[in-house]
Amino acid sequence: MKKGILYSYGKYLPLTGKTPMLSLCEGDTPLAPLRNLSRELGVELFAKYDGLNPTGSFKDRGMVLAVAKAVEEGAKAVICASTGNTSASAAAYAAVAGIPCFVLLPAGKVALGKLAQAMIYGAKVLAVRGNFDRALELAREGAEQEGFAIVNSVNPYRLWGQRSAAWEICDELGTPPDWLTLPVGNAGNISAYCAGFEFYKENGAIRKLPRLVGVQAEGAAPMVRGAPVDSPETVATAIRIGRPVSADKAKRAVEITGGRFLAVSDDEILDAQKQLASSDGLFAEPASCAPLAGLLKLKREGELPSGLRIAMVLTGNGLKDPDAATSRVPSAIEIDGTREALMEVLNS
Ligand code: F0G
Repeated sequence: MKKGILYSYGKYLPLTGKTPMLSLCEGDTPLAPLRNLSRELGVELFAKYDGLNPTGSFKDRGMVLAVAKAVEEGAKAVICASTGNTSASAAAYAAVAGIPCFVLLPAGKVALGKLAQAMIYGAKVLAVRGNFDRALELAREGAEQEGFAIVNSVNPYRLWGQRSAAWEICDELGTPPDWLTLPVGNAGNISAYCAGFEFYKENGAIRKLPRLVGVQAEGAAPMVRGAPVDSPETVATAIRIGRPVSADKAKRAVEITGGRFLAVSDDEILDAQKQLASSDGLFAEPASCAPLAGLLKLKREGELPSGLRIAMVLTGNGLKDPDAATSRVPSAIEIDGTREALMEVLNS
């Protein structure tokens, strides 16, 4: 069997005989049970480990479809704005499709691993003096040029492909979890999960929708505040967004599922990142750890009912942003290359 979203879920996607069947074997990521954190939180916690996608984030699920449809519809190039992961993914799929890719990044605010990815895949990288929201406005202007397709989540194929994560979780568990929690930036992914669960409910594959719990960083929390944020700021650069494009869809997703939005501080995010890695062995980038920070906060405040089955989406790989991860852990112990020096450390 061929691997990848267009193969595994092609029957639920708008493919035609002319859609190029692109694949980097994206999707089919692990749903890992987190034993230690489950015990601590008093719930049954699973991590949907989407950082194991080919470019290290969930973006590949929708990008494969967006780039395939762009090629089918005659695009000669793709363009996007990004906080890093979308650009890495767009660049990779444009490379396999054989078309140029232009990416607009907020200058100085993209994790090094993500920047390296866009460059090595061969994208034309533009560092915009301004934040992501401004870069997206510019990308939309660029996409008005003849032959350009925008592959941000304003492109409906992106969210369509991202529904596959909801389907995988239901297919694996047999039923949806009680809660699904994930980070919210431009608010596309939470909307895609909702659409994915709704689709499964409509076709009888599941009976109820999980509560969707969207977590933002305090300095970039327009969904929690209910208003845009002009100068978003957070260590979780992936979700450093003040004007989410899919705000309305995300609001609806939370309303119809009986879920909620909540905000966590940068310290809480970095603590959760460390705890996830050191207690359950999974390394996710800061944005991806906002949901765990949210669960720990709800637990502290007595708002986390025990016994729930919760799926938490680890949207991006920790290796993308080593600076954030190493900022608060002890550094390596340097020793002389001698047996004595080694023994001194082992016995201290
Ligand atoms: N987690 C990670 C690792 C992300 O890269 C993003 C978004 C999100 C969560 C939030 O998802 O925007 O659908 O609400 N990254 C975009 C990018 C903005 O350009 O890579 P969302």
